[in-house]
Amino acid sequence: MNDNPYQNDRGNKDRSITKDGGGANKDTVTYRTGGSSAASGEPFLIGDAMTGGYGKGPDILHSCTIAAEKGEIAVIVGPNGAGKSTAMKAVFGMLNVNEGAVRLDGEDITHLSPQERVVKGMGFVPQVANIFTSMTVEENLEMGAFIRRDDFSDTMAQVYDLFPILKDKRNQPAGELSGGQRQQVAVGRALMTQPKVLMLDEPTAGVSPIVMDELFDRIIEVARTGIPILMVEQNARQALEIADKAYVLVQGRNAHTGTGKELLADDDVRRSFLGG
Ligand SMILES: Nc1ncnc2c1ncn2[C@@H]1O[C@H](COP(=O)(O)OP(=O)(O)OP(=O)(O)O)[C@@H](O)[C@H]1O
Ligand SMILES: [Mg+2]
Repeated sequence: MNDNPYQNDRGNKDRSITKDGGGANKDTVTYRTGGSSAASGEPFLIGDAMTGGYGKGPDILHSCTIAAEKGEIAVIVGPNGAGKSTAMKAVFGMLNVNEGAVRLDGEDITHLSPQERVVKGMGFVPQVANIFTSMTVEENLEMGAFIRRDDFSDTMAQVYDLFPILKDKRNQPAGELSGGQRQQVAVGRALMTQPKVLMLDEPTAGVSPIVMDELFDRIIEVARTGIPILMVEQNARQALEIADKAYVLVQGRNAHTGTGKELLADDDVRRSFLGG
């Protein structure tokens, strides 16, 4: 019997997250109560109408909203410089939100530090510098568990079940791994805190199409365990295919929002972002 929670369909019994069926039965983009926080009826994680920028600089985000529901994959796409990473950093508490709010499971966390948000259950894999290259794979995973005081060996075993290559290479410096393997280390590191929600900024950057498909499959597995995923992706078409919910950002604003299927079928989105 397979006891890897990332491979069992634990939770999410009423949803199917499949490559071709993501968002299949959803004809509305309004928030449902199904996978949401019971109290508010809104998504489990939401950056709601966020306006803000870096330090004293100009606002980069303009009333930008991104959110993720339990057991679902939400994808953020948009041109370079659109503010996708900035929106993720705002949700994670790395820049000032002048207007708007960030809520996790109904709790306003707008003024918490990133560390406090990790304790609350946020896992974040940034776009750059997301692993320690001179440390071994296993040391990277141990670093990921920094907030834990309990025994995290079971979680490490789960990460190794999800990404078997990392077990083989556990004593190798992470800097010696391929791009796709490094991304696995980064995602595995974030999973070590047993997050309630996982945020990934371009998890497939710089990897081949085959490796991208494999990474997407692993991300789908994680979502099936009930962990909402909020993910920025450069590979817009493929990402929309697996997205339950999708956001197109342009110049720090929400340009299009819908299910992955809806955006794939939207003429404007196709012309502007998917090459026709
Ligand atoms: N640390 C920073 N300080 C000041 N401005 C920044 C900083 N990081 C990003 N910006 C600015 O914010 C804007 C949005 O950048 P951001 O990195 O969020 O875009 P993105 O959509 O993630 O782009 P990409 O697809 O290239 O990753 C850009 O104009 C950028 O110059
Ligand atoms: Mg970015």
